Amino acid sequence: MQLKDKVAIITGAGIGRACCLLFAAEGAKVVAVDLDQASLDSVSTDVQRTGGAILAIQADVSRAADVERIVSATCDAFSTVHILFNNAGIVTHGKIHQTAEADWDRAMTGNVKSMYLMSRAIVPIFLKQGRGVILNTSSATALRSVVDRAAYSATKGAVLALTKSMASDYVRDGIRVNCLCPGTIDTPSLRGRLAAFTDPEEARKQFVARQPMGRLGNAEEVAEAALFLVSDNAKFVTGTAFSVDGGFAV
Ligand SMILES: NC(=O)c1ccc[n+]([C@@H]2O[C@H](COP(=O)([O-])OP(=O)(O)OC[C@H]3O[C@@H](n4cnc5c(N)ncnc54)[C@H](O)[C@@H]3O)[C@@H](O)[C@H]2O)c1
Repeated sequence: MQLKDKVAIITGAGIGRACCLLFAAEGAKVVAVDLDQASLDSVSTDVQRTGGAILAIQADVSRAADVERIVSATCDAFSTVHILFNNAGIVTHGKIHQTAEADWDRAMTGNVKSMYLMSRAIVPIFLKQGRGVILNTSSATALRSVVDRAAYSATKGAVLALTKSMASDYVRDGIRVNCLCPGTIDTPSLRGRLAAFTDPEEARKQFVARQPMGRLGNAEEVAEAALFLVSDNAKFVTGTAFSVDGGFAV
């Protein structure tokens, strides 16, 4: 029970779904946030089935009014917050000359502004209680280039820099801030992207072919790394970019 009685907000219910299940199994009271009600219903059912505590909130973390609603609903339900896992994100495709301004803005808003808004809302609570943990999901694309992901990679580089900056800003306040850099993880998002190819099976083979370990990662493997980083086992760890990528960015 590494997270016994901790209140953890987890945004995004793809990789985040496995994190909700693991954190709840480790004793956390989980607040799951997603745009998609069906994903929330599914993770809520599974957490409750195993006796875990979960509050599901349908919200858009890139909208300030929704973020306020998330924080007040969390405090109403559980009085405080100990862990913020900024994980929700979107993937955009294309080289820079193929990236429409609207897609650039959508990527920056969905992947970076969302983390700014959530962190801005939660940090005052952490400062008041003298402790707290933030984990942000960056990507292996922040560490090693991948073709056709210009805007996406820029957002994930921004998440990495934001993580380090926040880690320095709050290192004397009992607040740790780290980021995860997952490689290619088999999630609903990835399966949707593969389905968009003319030959999804061939596309999957190509994704697998570029993996040093010869396979994709899974959400449970990312969740184990997330658990370590948000738990007291990592109490001397801040400002790090933790790769879970099967050697992709080595
Ligand atoms: N899957 C991968 O291969 C991979 C690799 C590296 C990094 N990542 C990152 O991991 C994180 C999770 O991705 P995933 O693979 O689980 O994707 P996913 O699409 O399976 O899940 C993401 C979830 O976030 C939700 N979401 C998106 N924008 C939101 C918003 N503004 N407000 C609330 N909810 C929102 C979606 O509805 C979705 O359920 C993302 O930040 C992604 O960039 C994923």
